[in-house]
Amino acid sequence: MKIEVLIDNQAQEGFAPEHGLSLLFHFEKEKVLFDTGAGGVFAENFARAGVCMEEISSLVISHGHYDHTGGAASLFASAFTGNVFYGKGMEKTRYSIHPDRPVKELTIPERSLAAWKKLPSERKKEITDFTRINKDFFLTGMIPHVTFEDRGGPFFLDKEGKRKDEIDDEISLLTSAGVLVPGCCHAGIINTLLHCRKNAPHIPVRYIMGGLHLLYADEKKLSKTAEILNGIKSLEKIILLHCTGENAVQYLKEHLFCEVVTGKAGDVFIF
Ligand SMILES: [Fe+2]
Ligand SMILES: [Fe+2]
Repeated sequence: MKIEVLIDNQAQEGFAPEHGLSLLFHFEKEKVLFDTGAGGVFAENFARAGVCMEEISSLVISHGHYDHTGGAASLFASAFTGNVFYGKGMEKTRYSIHPDRPVKELTIPERSLAAWKKLPSERKKEITDFTRINKDFFLTGMIPHVTFEDRGGPFFLDKEGKRKDEIDDEISLLTSAGVLVPGCCHAGIINTLLHCRKNAPHIPVRYIMGGLHLLYADEKKLSKTAEILNGIKSLEKIILLHCTGENAVQYLKEHLFCEVVTGKAGDVFIF
């Protein structure tokens, strides 16, 4: 199985970078797209990688943030005819509110939301619980928060910052071969791993590949995360992408026992 990075904050020459994420899974018989980036480089990077839209059998939307859903308008307008897996509450209007910055809306961009609304209902597959999709992969459904981890930032459902956004529409993907793929991992990587272990105890996680959203994590959170990851004996390699944050990447490279690398658009990882 291989995973192609189509959109990421970093890019190889020939690909464009963008704050967003999109990965293409090449399973034995089918291709599954995981997220669509923010929309700005979708056409360019997909063309560069030679992606054939009609060959994509399904789309997984990790959560309803603009940087994972912006390219969906282009995908839905293409020859793609597959199903779309998503978490409940994905369409919510939401914001990030940092004390020293203007309020930023993170909702699915209008074009994608309009295209999503027009998609036939039989192609929309809402995932709430941990679910086996086929022989190749599972989707986590909602991930319970049982550890010290927060959502990774100041996320709210209103511009005033009164109602917290728990981002509980977030789903991650686990392959049958033990590759765990979070989009942003707002649920926290330890919560996500525990949820997978509980629901698929027969699949030891060997690889983690995705965004870990640790860019605002303090030393205490990073050290606790590293300590628990180091206790997972099956873990061989972590491929950090998108919103992990430079400090966190450095910290994990220095403190984890397993191999830690970063990826960028244009990279292909074979498992
Ligand atoms: Fe993100
Ligand atoms: Fe996010």
